[in-house]
Amino acid sequence: MNHCLAIWNFDMEIKVMIIIFVVLRHTMLLLNSRLLISAETVVTCDGFVQRLSCDSGVIRVQSSTFGRTNGNICSVGRPQGQTSNTLCSVDVHEVSKRCDGLSMCELNTQGLVEHDPCDGTYKYYTTNYTCIQAETSVTCHGGYAYLSCENGKIHINTANYGRTDKVTCSEGRPSNELQNSSCYSPNALAPVSKSCNGLESCELFATQTVFTDPCVGTYKYLAVSYFCLPSALRTSVICEHANNTLKCEQGAVIHIHTANYGRTDRSTCSVRRRASQTTKTDCYSSNSMEIVTNGCEGNNSCVLVASNGVFSDPCFGTFKYLYVSYSCVAKYCKLPEASGLVMTL
Ligand SMILES: *[C@@H]1O[C@H](CO)[C@@H](O)[C@H](O)[C@H]1NC(C)=O
Ligand SMILES: *[C@@H]1O[C@H](CO)[C@@H](O)[C@H](O)[C@H]1NC(C)=O
Ligand SMILES: *[C@@H]1O[C@H](CO)[C@@H](O)[C@H](O)[C@H]1NC(C)=O
Ligand SMILES: *[C@@H]1O[C@H](CO)[C@@H](O)[C@H](O)[C@H]1NC(C)=O
Repeated sequence: MNHCLAIWNFDMEIKVMIIIFVVLRHTMLLLNSRLLISAETVVTCDGFVQRLSCDSGVIRVQSSTFGRTNGNICSVGRPQGQTSNTLCSVDVHEVSKRCDGLSMCELNTQGLVEHDPCDGTYKYYTTNYTCIQAETSVTCHGGYAYLSCENGKIHINTANYGRTDKVTCSEGRPSNELQNSSCYSPNALAPVSKSCNGLESCELFATQTVFTDPCVGTYKYLAVSYFCLPSALRTSVICEHANNTLKCEQGAVIHIHTANYGRTDRSTCSVRRRASQTTKTDCYSSNSMEIVTNGCEGNNSCVLVASNGVFSDPCFGTFKYLYVSYSCVAKYCKLPEASGLVMTL
């Protein structure tokens, strides 16, 4: 271990802990449909280390901002000129990108935000996050497990095909099939993760044709725990006259959330454009959603062309672009056989 590095780290840690690192712990109890979630707020002065952690569950960042909205926070030893502007705040997406899904996350805030939202003001990072708990799914041998995340994507935490107690999936089974309660499959995690991670829903068949049989003669079940992580909405921007392909992983298909051919800001697709072509920022093509959905929804991939020929011209003289947000979902999802339903997403 590098000695100098160790001292530097220690020094940094002391500073972080004692002098500047301000942690406000607001424990708000939000009533969720199934569990109590406590939201935490962490404030870290610019240049120091922000640490998020969950005793149980994983981090889900709700908001993260950089700037100054309060004159007192991170003001110790600062000239008044650096703390008087309290109207400065920008969103920081990096925190959620790096920390969502982890149980502990440390970020060195130095250089985390490239553009200074208020030059001359000493700023700080405010992050609100919750710890989300694992969902569980138990499916008796021969049945289908249907995992789903309403507003997010599945991340498998643990998976076992076997038996770990005498009660689960025991109804009507002979007792000799229930005795071994320390039956663990050696390799269930990999196939389950492969079928489900990153999807909004997935289906699993609990059988030894998929999972090897760890205890012959015992009646087994598939027990899975998983987290619903915030779904990564993907976006695609295609400048006028260009085309692009939207594509999902194998086995997943495109689900369109929003689409617009037009212009809603001045910066997108503005390179080498005259100012007059980028000033109109309320340009919408009302048929965008329909056209993009028809070409892409339910397909594994699709090609989109951003042109007046496809969408007609919603604002003559403005240089336009096609903005699409979409997610990738499982191709089809069958609910457990008992319900006799087939759901197509
Ligand atoms: C973050 O949490 C603090 C304290 O609970 C609250 O005042 C603030 O509005 C929250 N910020 C956002 C953007 O949700
Ligand atoms: C239970 O199943 C495991 C395989 O996971 C096996 O190693 C163990 O010997 C079995 N125990 C009994 C009591 O049969
Ligand atoms: C997409 O763009 C490429 C290169 O600009 C072009 O060769 C191709 O014909 C375009 N495809 C469609 C479907 O417009
Ligand atoms: C979508 O899939 C259908 C059938 O698989 C195919 O015919 C069609 O060309 C695809 N659409 C695009 C835009 O790629």
